[in-house]
Amino acid sequence: MSHQGRKFLQRLIRSAEAKNSRVILALDLLGKGRLELRDRAISLIRELGEDLAAVKVNFHLLLPLSILSDVKKICVEAHEMGLQVIADIKLNDIASTNLLTTSYLWRAGFDAVIVNPIAGYEGGLQPLLEDARIREKGVIILGYMSHFGAQYTYGLPLNSSLYDRISTLSELFVSRALDWGADGLVIGATYPKTIKKTRQIVGDRLPIFSPGIATQGGDPKVAIKAGTDFLIVGRGILEAKDPLRTLSSLRKKTWPPKIRVIRE
Ligand code: XMP
Repeated sequence: MSHQGRKFLQRLIRSAEAKNSRVILALDLLGKGRLELRDRAISLIRELGEDLAAVKVNFHLLLPLSILSDVKKICVEAHEMGLQVIADIKLNDIASTNLLTTSYLWRAGFDAVIVNPIAGYEGGLQPLLEDARIREKGVIILGYMSHFGAQYTYGLPLNSSLYDRISTLSELFVSRALDWGADGLVIGATYPKTIKKTRQIVGDRLPIFSPGIATQGGDPKVAIKAGTDFLIVGRGILEAKDPLRTLSSLRKKTWPPKIRVIRE
């Protein structure tokens, strides 16, 4: 797979290969105080960083923390550990609001953002995708979410007479992610058949990121066999008795010598 001009992917691959890890930690921390949350995130990054390819930050931290001080500090720490930082906000708005949002994310130091393709391209995601490319940031598109109800939305059948070889809403999003020059797709580990189908559609042109491991029932090995590249894990590691041991064991059992797709 060529990632010419796709700097986020190049950095992510470098980090994954340096750590022999395809695991992305969801920093979904629960706590009362702002500083307690920030410091816990930083100490987890230091403690677990050697076994990770990246970290993902969601509203658990984005809402209580200050974006340009606390979150920025978390991004700095992650970069010092050689980790990429992904903002999981499933952004879904008109272009001007999307650009305002990502301007804060990029200033805080994020490397990539997860967006919702339902916003569409013109007047929706196009300016963000173009701006991200110029700034060497990544845009990852939701292809099929990990929760149970996703099958009633992402899995909706489409009229095949309107769309050539596309039979579900998810497949349409996958095809759009390719057309729009996105940097990756999120497909829940809980839907390995969809991962397989997505891999067939995208070939080695886009990496697949899979949340839904462990707590939501997804099996990391099954997801990898189906074609996923990166495993997103939160509670399965954060709530483990020994997070480092749990992560380390997951890293080892999911890092085969031959990694497909994400090689440059
Ligand atoms: P757990 O604790 O279930 O956390 O390992 C998963 C993390 O990933 C987020 N999540 C998703 N993010 N598309 C996404 O972009 C999805 O389909 C999806 N499913 C879960 C979740 O919010 C948490 O941060």
